[in-house]
Amino acid sequence: MSDFFSVFWKFWITTLTLGGIAFCLVLLINMSKRPSDSGHAAGEQTGEPMGHVWDEDLQELNNPLPTWWLRLFYISIIFGLGYLVLYPGLGSYAGYLNWTSRGAYVQEKQSADLEIKPIFDRFAQMDITEIAKDPEARLIGQRLFINHCAQCHGSDGGGQRGYPNLKDNDWLWGGEPASIEQTIREGRQAQMPAWGTVYGEEGVKQLAHYVLSLSRPVNGDDAALAAKGAPLFATTCAACHGAEGKGNPVMGAPNLTDHIWLYGGAEKEVMETIRHGRHGVMPAHKDRLSSAHIRVLAGYVYGFSH
Ligand code: HEC
Ligand code: HEC
Repeated sequence: MSDFFSVFWKFWITTLTLGGIAFCLVLLINMSKRPSDSGHAAGEQTGEPMGHVWDEDLQELNNPLPTWWLRLFYISIIFGLGYLVLYPGLGSYAGYLNWTSRGAYVQEKQSADLEIKPIFDRFAQMDITEIAKDPEARLIGQRLFINHCAQCHGSDGGGQRGYPNLKDNDWLWGGEPASIEQTIREGRQAQMPAWGTVYGEEGVKQLAHYVLSLSRPVNGDDAALAAKGAPLFATTCAACHGAEGKGNPVMGAPNLTDHIWLYGGAEKEVMETIRHGRHGVMPAHKDRLSSAHIRVLAGYVYGFSH
């Protein structure tokens, strides 16, 4: 154990601990002396009056503490010393049992893993679509989801701005069981470039109106703007979002023809997206979760919309 900055602290802690116990011991020995020990007549059981008198004849005497009670203190001192021999408590002495909190954690985790192994072994044999229907898997999946995913996707998977809704069966990166599993395992990094400097404010506005026209009817000035945006979209945006704007799961490019918006579907929000770009990051979980856990989660997420 090298958690101390300097040798001084080892001695400091050892001295305080043992000194404290020694002090208690001396105090106890003193307190357990009977009055007869200090020269009183043998057989006399009462102590000296302390000078406090109540109700005319009720006196306080300095009688010793009851023996049974003192023995409890002696026992705790012996227990304490035994504890310090077996467990780390004195400076850097590791204790006879070599116990460490880290070791205890590893041991506990190993036995817990052993206990849950058969359960996860069963899931390993199952298809993700079956896991999605399995009540036990869903219960475990729910816990895992709350612990690892809910802070971004919401405890019910409903998502929020910038964090996709996982329940609507509309997918950026594909909703096949294997795609979902890969999303969780490897993570995803969306790259929507910024076009503000390329097209200027006017171009951005035209593009935004063209994008909006894909999912709602437009007329008047808006239709004229959208018409100007159409050729820009065809040359620049179609490469990722597709000629019809239906999106491309290989790049995580969203479908722009539906009413589902990751970053908002108001004119201002769509312009903001086009002007500055967006870079949504879904973190990889392969280093945090075992592949069995990831499968259970993939099944749980798949089950949201199936
Ligand atoms: C730090 C926030 C964060 C955490 C934690 C997180 N995600 Fe995500 N997740 C995102 C973001 C952001 C995206 C969208 C990435 C993008 O813009 O393409 C995403 C995307 C996804 C997708 C793809 C959705 C689609 O439409 O294709 C799935 C599935 C998913 N997450 C599941 C999970 C699961 C399961 C967990 C828990 C193990 C999790 N996420 C944890 C932020 C997070
Ligand atoms: C290199 C590929 C690529 C190109 C080119 C591209 N996009 Fe995107 N776009 C994406 C990706 C990926 C996302 C998702 C960003 C995220 O999840 O963080 C996105 C998101 C969007 C969104 C947000 C959708 C929502 O649900 O909020 C809009 C709007 C959009 N793009 C419009 C455009 C327009 C207009 C152009 C052309 C000027 C364009 N994109 C060019 C890849 C691209």
